[in-house]
Amino acid sequence: MDKIEVVRQMDLFASLNDVERALISSAARLRVLETGDHVCREGEQGRTFYAVGRGALSVRRGNPPAEVAVLRSGHYFGEMSLLTGAPRSATVVALDRAEVLEFDRPAFMNLFANNVGIAQAISEVVATRQMELRQFAEDARLKAPPPSDSGAIFGRIRQLFGLD
Ligand code: CMP
Repeated sequence: MDKIEVVRQMDLFASLNDVERALISSAARLRVLETGDHVCREGEQGRTFYAVGRGALSVRRGNPPAEVAVLRSGHYFGEMSLLTGAPRSATVVALDRAEVLEFDRPAFMNLFANNVGIAQAISEVVATRQMELRQFAEDARLKAPPPSDSGAIFGRIRQLFGLD
């Protein structure tokens, strides 16, 4: 699958123009995953963001791991550690042959510098996911950090990425 095709199918990047889309996709690395491959593990440090191009990935939390969500083409993950510096909040495993695009922090620095709306949109998704993780942790009697509101997350992103 073409890197630019993956970027094109993401709602998150819908506001980008062709030049910005080409720029962000050229900064990404395409990874092909086989069933059972782990992309990241809960508790590990991480500084990368992933966009799903093809296939399905399971987001799991706890021990034994329980599924929190399934991500498919157009979805993304890894934003919580990349943007807040916190350890990975969950483990992500390929459920079948999958393709993901991997982005590092410098790629996002450039993107946010040109398009702060994207940082705002991601902040909202992070806040929702934190809430879902919190709800899941309560159901499973696990520990989860308290959720932040999207404004606080956006503030942290602005600080980390020097957007002020
Ligand atoms: P991060 O904490 O960096 O690494 C694990 C990823 O799993 C996390 O970022 C999110 O992208 C993803 N994730 C966590 N909780 C959810 C959820 N409730 N729904 C979908 N994805 C999630």
